[in-house]
Amino acid sequence: MIKSTPSACEEFVSSLEKLFTISLNDIKVIITGFHAEMRKGLSGHESSLKMIPSFVDRPKGNEKGKFIALDLGGTNFRVLAVELDGVGNSIVSAVSKFAIPKKDMEGTGEQLFDFIADCIDSFLTENNIDRKNFYDLAFTFSFPVKQTNIVSGSLIVWTKGFTAKGVEGEDVIILLNEALSRKNISCIKVAALANDTVGTLAARSYTDPTCDLGVIMGTGTNACYREKLSNIPKLRGPDPEGYMIVNMEWGNFDKLRLTRYDKQLDEASVNPGAMYLEKMVSGMYLGEVTRLIVIDLIKRDLMFLNEPDAAESFKKKDSLKTEHMSLIEGDETENLGETEQFLNNSGITNTTLHDRTLLKRLCEFVSARAARLGAAAICAVITWMDPELDDMHTVAVDGSLFGKYPGFGAKITDVFKKLYGEKAEKIILVHSKDGSGKGAAIIAAVAASSEKNKT
Ligand code: GLC
Repeated sequence: MIKSTPSACEEFVSSLEKLFTISLNDIKVIITGFHAEMRKGLSGHESSLKMIPSFVDRPKGNEKGKFIALDLGGTNFRVLAVELDGVGNSIVSAVSKFAIPKKDMEGTGEQLFDFIADCIDSFLTENNIDRKNFYDLAFTFSFPVKQTNIVSGSLIVWTKGFTAKGVEGEDVIILLNEALSRKNISCIKVAALANDTVGTLAARSYTDPTCDLGVIMGTGTNACYREKLSNIPKLRGPDPEGYMIVNMEWGNFDKLRLTRYDKQLDEASVNPGAMYLEKMVSGMYLGEVTRLIVIDLIKRDLMFLNEPDAAESFKKKDSLKTEHMSLIEGDETENLGETEQFLNNSGITNTTLHDRTLLKRLCEFVSARAARLGAAAICAVITWMDPELDDMHTVAVDGSLFGKYPGFGAKITDVFKKLYGEKAEKIILVHSKDGSGKGAAIIAAVAASSEKNKT
């Protein structure tokens, strides 16, 4: 077999790098596209951005109460006991984390909600919580839900690999209540249903009134922001003066240039044709895009030439994870020894420094594209709220990709600086860890206090 030359390899990889580069001009086009889709979504017209009203505004910081909070949306399910003291502190007094079995993610809705109820049951028992009292429950359900009020909403469509049957189109609070009664848990009353972005925004703005954007960059990606009611024509409310948090479901934004690898990933996914931005930006997919490029390079005889079985090691879908990319990109050892170790563990034992450097370079351009697309989306929302950047905007970001991937946040702020120069200082990006659990409790308290104000 004729082996390819180093220059052929360089030529091919440079062409790929170009495909994955998002220029400042591309970012400007994306921002304009976002604004058009936001406008359509808010008016109730067909749009890739669902722009879902959450039925709450930001907290004021004086909300009080004790809540049990549920957090469902990634690979783990969490139950928390949260107390809000009314002066800006949210204290988590107990938390339990449960891995969601794949069979429950992909089985029936009844199975999934029974699993949730079982977890609540163990949480109550482990923490000696008296079942004779009643507890308000705040439910962070991190999927696109069409809410009709703060305590009900139907799942529009599953995302992030969940496929449990019989849930799409159904009210998830009814499904939860049915599971609780099947398990004889009668001490719980649902007080609020919220998306994780809304929780993240609420948790930060409980103490920071400049926070008006909540973002998740983790298994999935999405954002919510504070919108004027007068800008939401599809929600004809009685109070056009107020504000409401809107869950954008930006992971579904589709005015994007896909590479052949993105198309391949999309076709093999459980939701082809949907969630394009999420598939290019979030932790569930970056490893897979990189794996598809690696396989292509192996097939073209441009990588792992000393390892005839290399393709075999990465044959399985999702066998290269975003966590692995994070390790590879963070590898600062001289000969990329950590990367070598990882490859050894994956069964590729005979690699050259060139192979490892190449792998690191692939991770770099796939993750740089993700960060720049994420930055474009953030800029789009901020300039929608404040075109001239007159005010401060704190962006609360949660999610493992943002929290753990080396240099991810810096790549995002770099875009702010390049686009807005000195005015970029008006945008503060903060890692708001664990907002989604605490935040749902805050949302429940906001909802309770606005109910009280009505009566
Ligand atoms: C997916 C969900 C969205 C959620 C995001 C982050 O995009 O559709 O509701 O906020 O993941 O968890």
